[in-house]
Amino acid sequence: MKHDSISKTLGERFASAVASVAGDACGPIDSQVRPAGDPKHGDYQCNAAMSLARRLKAKPREIAQRIVDAVDLADIAEPLEIAGPGFINVRLRTEFLARYLGEVPPPPAASPAPVSGPPMDRLGMPTVDAPYKTVIDYSSPNIAKQMHVGHLRSTIIGDVFARVLMFEGHEVVRQNHVGDWGTQFGMLIEHYGDKAVPSHRTHADALAAIEDDYRVAQERFGSDEAFADAARLAVGRLQSGDVEARRVWESICGESRHAFGEIYKRLDVLLEEADACGESFYNDRLAPVVDELVERLRPREAGQRGSGPYAELREDGGALCVFLYDEKGEAAFTNQDGDPLPMIVRKSDGAFLYATTDLAALRYRIKELGARRMIYVTDARQKLHFRMFFAAARAAGWAGDEVALEHTTFGSVLGANRKPLKTRTGKNVLLRELLDEAERRAYDVLVERDRGIEGSRDREERDEDEKRAIARRVGIAAVKYADLVRDRNSDYVFNWDSMLAMQGNTAPYMMYAYARIRSIYRKAAERFGSPDVYAAGVVLSLGAPAERDLALRLVRFRETIDSVAADLLPHTLCNYLFELASDFMRFYESCPVLQAPDEATRLGRMRLCDLTARTLRLGLWLLGIEVIERM
Ligand code: ARG
Repeated sequence: MKHDSISKTLGERFASAVASVAGDACGPIDSQVRPAGDPKHGDYQCNAAMSLARRLKAKPREIAQRIVDAVDLADIAEPLEIAGPGFINVRLRTEFLARYLGEVPPPPAASPAPVSGPPMDRLGMPTVDAPYKTVIDYSSPNIAKQMHVGHLRSTIIGDVFARVLMFEGHEVVRQNHVGDWGTQFGMLIEHYGDKAVPSHRTHADALAAIEDDYRVAQERFGSDEAFADAARLAVGRLQSGDVEARRVWESICGESRHAFGEIYKRLDVLLEEADACGESFYNDRLAPVVDELVERLRPREAGQRGSGPYAELREDGGALCVFLYDEKGEAAFTNQDGDPLPMIVRKSDGAFLYATTDLAALRYRIKELGARRMIYVTDARQKLHFRMFFAAARAAGWAGDEVALEHTTFGSVLGANRKPLKTRTGKNVLLRELLDEAERRAYDVLVERDRGIEGSRDREERDEDEKRAIARRVGIAAVKYADLVRDRNSDYVFNWDSMLAMQGNTAPYMMYAYARIRSIYRKAAERFGSPDVYAAGVVLSLGAPAERDLALRLVRFRETIDSVAADLLPHTLCNYLFELASDFMRFYESCPVLQAPDEATRLGRMRLCDLTARTLRLGLWLLGIEVIERM
């Protein structure tokens, strides 16, 4: 059997049974197979009987019985049970679990730390049958400003999407849609004149200086007429390719991008400088995009109204605007007064806007990059913008039904006062300062803990550099994991103590669980002469309930990854890994490894340890967290 997820295998088997019960009359019916909510009801359930019975006008339990009679699961499941109104409960046979898990190949001989590709050790999981090209638009900070905590979520959530989809075998194009174009550059160009753009020893310091200058320039723009006029002219010079204006702009962009790159490296995300495709890239495409909109979104004649959804491009007070209509031909978007809310694509002075650039980028990504799925990761405040520009892109025919457009939003990072996180002086918290503090605090926690546990060889051997390196990794992981572990749609309170806690669903706990399992395995391997636990003769007997629970959790890894790829909710993977670590601890308490009753049992349990560690490592990698072998 191909090593697909159990859900998928069960889904396929049930689908053909459901189809045969339904006959030709019903059209396609979802087999509705999902993991059982309560282990009392088995491991999985099929809930198709109820909806099918409604269509066939029959009794649900009878339909359930007919599905049970038709489905062939003898090799996978115990005899099926029908419960309540017609739920079909599936309990996997323990021999099946053992066989399925037994087919996971040993780790490849050399699995070097992955850099930017998917990890070498896939635990035997195949890539999907029908890969597609996905563009992920994330991080996307603005040039001339330092990244702050607001960019944290987009950067690390988008990174998980990139890793998960790449792992599944899709072609992922990362797009960092940096804000590198617009009137603010006129101010900066004029401000610098022929002076040099700051370039300090570190890019981060240079960017901080540029941001200060930007504030000064903004103030001058507000108070000094002559400066404001000159700045406006400078925008024009930049747009028409004036060499001097371009030079200043390029230095500003260069320093900013290098500084972002440093943050990405510290955050250990896959984004590289080459992924930056900023707003300026679309500059030449904006006028043609508007021309095409004029062509494609011609206002309808009065008589044609009423069948939607559709869009029209009309002039409104000198600006070119897209008006969007719903199925009934009513305005799809309205303002507080109930008046139609247009999407402006060209202002009366001829300037293009954020929305115009997004339309040009979408068109480019579909037509030129060949994207079939587009994922945008921004905070929830941009919801309306995305709904409108997606609707316009559909109406213009740039995105057909074969292209998925997904705006994945996230809530705010809050301070202890439950208001958006700020510094004591009310400023945005800079990302680099936040990461410095994470490393510092993780170091303190580590030193504190080492002091508490005397006498461990692993710890005594650690020198200062190693301690710093571990603290760096744990600190950053703690920040990332604390963000990913909640449903991304909710706000969360940023709290150092809870994210660095060694107990609970935190990065330090998960990383520690991994290192502990590795150490258990190492001890057994040292004592028993490094046996090959993947040898053909080694069987996973799974006789003890805790062994079976652990095995069931392990085989659910793939369907968890699949669900993140589909629903784009990373917290389901965090929760899965936490459950896995907990199942392992229960297993380890009740099923001794070193003191196993006999060799066969010991080898089987050692293999379970190794499979758990490999699953944790890969799972954490998908979350952008690199494990540590000894903690
Ligand atoms: N630069 C924008 C900001 O800081 C985010 C851009 C998001 N991506 C997009 N294609 N609109 O708010």
